[in-house]
Amino acid sequence: MSPRLGVNIDHVATVRNARGGALPDPVRAAELAIAAGADGITAHLREDRRHIRDEDIARLIARITKPLNFEMAVTDEMVGIALQTKPHAACLVPEKRSERTTEGGLDVVGGYGAVQPAAHKLKQAGIRVSLFIEPDPAALSAAVAMGAPVVELHTGAWCEAVMQGHGEEAQRHFSRLQEAAHSGARQGLEIHVGHGLDYATAEVIAALPSVMELNIGHFLIGESIFCGLEQTIGLMRAAIARGVAKRAG
Ligand code: PXP
Repeated sequence: MSPRLGVNIDHVATVRNARGGALPDPVRAAELAIAAGADGITAHLREDRRHIRDEDIARLIARITKPLNFEMAVTDEMVGIALQTKPHAACLVPEKRSERTTEGGLDVVGGYGAVQPAAHKLKQAGIRVSLFIEPDPAALSAAVAMGAPVVELHTGAWCEAVMQGHGEEAQRHFSRLQEAAHSGARQGLEIHVGHGLDYATAEVIAALPSVMELNIGHFLIGESIFCGLEQTIGLMRAAIARGVAKRAG
């Protein structure tokens, strides 16, 4: 079975917000992405609303025909919004106002006391909780202890090392991802991956048998400037399919 492709439409909103106004509309991008084969839509409502805004979340929930994965910081405000809007899934991410994008995974070990109650509330409301974590055994154990059904493994450092041509470092990061995916699945966690993925890295990571979902944004939106969303998503699905074909067993 092919892993799901979640398309993150945040950066359509980044372009919209550069000029104010309503265009380009991230909801239109979400609908096009679904028509082109996305299995779900991911959107991150950041505390500073730098791309996705509250009304985008409401419009996405009202209009899209595939699940919404709501990326959110572990704050009372975001938990409140999730409980009110009831997305299909909530992915808990760390968030610093100064960062350009999500840097590093959620500290589920040191921050257990803050993350666990938020995860519990969301789960009680029927929202599928995912924790965006580093591929690290202690983080996996904390996710299991919290009763989170899903973890999303942070692929950013690996993708960056691949892009920089740092072969040995990339291999080290990839081995950690491979071990974490395998061990997390053995512990009963559903394994998602995301951050920094492009065609090449998506193909490689999709070959890991326990990977059930890839969440990809920046590369897809960037490529679609040149090739259109439909072709870009088609090519990404093909890359994932090539990866799946390499799965052992
Ligand atoms: N998954 C998570 C948890 C993220 O925070 C992001 C970035 O918003 C992504 C996936 C998508 O990353 P990218 O835009 O680099 O593909």
